[in-house]
Amino acid sequence: MRKRIKPSFIGLLVWLVGAGHLTGCVSGQLGKNNSGEYRNGVVVSAKKEASVVGLDILKKGGNAIDAAVAVQFALAVVYPGAGNIGGGGFMVYRSADGRSNTLDFREQAAAGSSRDMYLDAAGNPVVDKSLYGSLAAGVPGSVAGMVAAHEKYGHLKWEVLLNPAIRLAEDGFKISAAQAHELNELKARFVSLNPRGTALLKAKGDWVEGDVLVQEQLANTLRQIRDKGAAGFYEGAVADSLVAEMQRSGGIITKADLKNYKAVWRTPILGNYKAYKIITMPPPSSGGIALLQLLKSVEPFPLKRWGFNRDSTVQVMVEAERRVYADRAEYMGDPDFVKIPEKSLLAGAYIKSRMHSLDWNKATPSSALRAGDLTAAEHEETTHFSIVDRYGNAVSLTTTLNGSYGAAMVVSGAGFLLNNEMDDFSVKPGAPNMYGLVGGEANSIAPGKRMLSSMTPTIIEKEGKLFMIVGTPGGSTIITSVFQTILNVLEFNQKMQTAVAAKKFHHQWLPDVVYVEDGALDSTTAVQLKKKGYVIEVRGPIGRVDAILKTKWGYYQYGADPRGDDAAAAW
Ligand code: GLY
Repeated sequence: MRKRIKPSFIGLLVWLVGAGHLTGCVSGQLGKNNSGEYRNGVVVSAKKEASVVGLDILKKGGNAIDAAVAVQFALAVVYPGAGNIGGGGFMVYRSADGRSNTLDFREQAAAGSSRDMYLDAAGNPVVDKSLYGSLAAGVPGSVAGMVAAHEKYGHLKWEVLLNPAIRLAEDGFKISAAQAHELNELKARFVSLNPRGTALLKAKGDWVEGDVLVQEQLANTLRQIRDKGAAGFYEGAVADSLVAEMQRSGGIITKADLKNYKAVWRTPILGNYKAYKIITMPPPSSGGIALLQLLKSVEPFPLKRWGFNRDSTVQVMVEAERRVYADRAEYMGDPDFVKIPEKSLLAGAYIKSRMHSLDWNKATPSSALRAGDLTAAEHEETTHFSIVDRYGNAVSLTTTLNGSYGAAMVVSGAGFLLNNEMDDFSVKPGAPNMYGLVGGEANSIAPGKRMLSSMTPTIIEKEGKLFMIVGTPGGSTIITSVFQTILNVLEFNQKMQTAVAAKKFHHQWLPDVVYVEDGALDSTTAVQLKKKGYVIEVRGPIGRVDAILKTKWGYYQYGADPRGDDAAAAW
């Protein structure tokens, strides 16, 4: 006789609570609840097409790393402004069982580079030399990074992860209004830097929203990578094209530079903010150390009681930012070349002592803080994506060409854009650069060195369990955007989408200005801060955060930044 199964009371309760939380199906899956949260997996990135690629991989049984690899390649096609195979980036990974790791696939200065390579005979930076054309490019790291990530953690076959990007490149995709605008704006530069033409130039007239961008050469390059792995990019026909492009246009990357490039697994930066554990990126990104310094600087203050973006809240956050960015400038660079005093920078007593000089009655002038060196000018057109799979494996990945469309130079015959990441080095250490900023010696150019970054891919745990996956583009505003998004959730109980969309502000020590998005501060807050001597300047969008939050019910909320075309795909 079959045994009757008695439903346990607890089991029934759990089921009822869960069922009350469910509305039904997404693509036939019981994955979505009536709050628009998902339980089986989420991909949130700068472009819907790329998020959909990632979700398809998850549905095929791929894990978060598989999806990340597929999204990175898809973004290289559908988001050429920052998605890339000719750039680099950083990834923070946390497996479902709580182990974490970080991957550095940052670009590297070519062996032929030198400290003063962007200076004229008088020792001044040559305008645009580190920004456009092949000399602006570091040795790309993205393909090596994706291969390393897949080799260590991937589950699906490599080719399965490349095929969606290849299809998007050969069939084309519809460009957005923002992309049409960007491509038209860059037309003259594309024409002058790409005498052999590029798919990014429309044959006739201007680009308009909905035009289909087909990238055949890029599709061929992706096929090489699919069929030969890293060798399909760093050796053979693609490497030949890249080196030929260098030789044609005065660049210095050689075949040896390409062959020698390695992505590096690095120990994550770990720290706590109240009950939360922060897992974030170590150098050569400054992001992780700076984020933890910021969080620890404000931790003793009652932000929650003061309230979201009230004057005391903004003041203490700005004063923390001023101090942390001064440190960043002086101490940070590639850890394989310079010794970074990580322990000292993160010591509780040190951070507390830095905040001692905070004066509630007036702004601390940046000139009164230790005058160190500040980073080279940073560009904001990076891109970030966050992924969680059904098992709870999580990826936070930020990747970049540096400037929008990088060096504006597409490798002829290979169809991919070169980065202009060399501009993230201090082009002229110790003196103001062409943007009026001062560069630090720790971040000076040297062969084989990785340029300092602000990218801050981050994962947060609560009570030992996955809680948040977060990151953003935004150059020097990356760190402060991640900082604010985290506090918006942890202190001000905002939902993930609200926290991402919330207007942001930013201070980076020098210039001594609080940059704000229009409407970030209400008039009372702004008046209070101005009275204390803060210079407030409204600027364009700050950050483009794509993030995921796990609720106590085990569902995932996402935040796709409305400042861009960003979108999530979830089930
Ligand atoms: N290129 C921007 C960054 O690495 O921070």
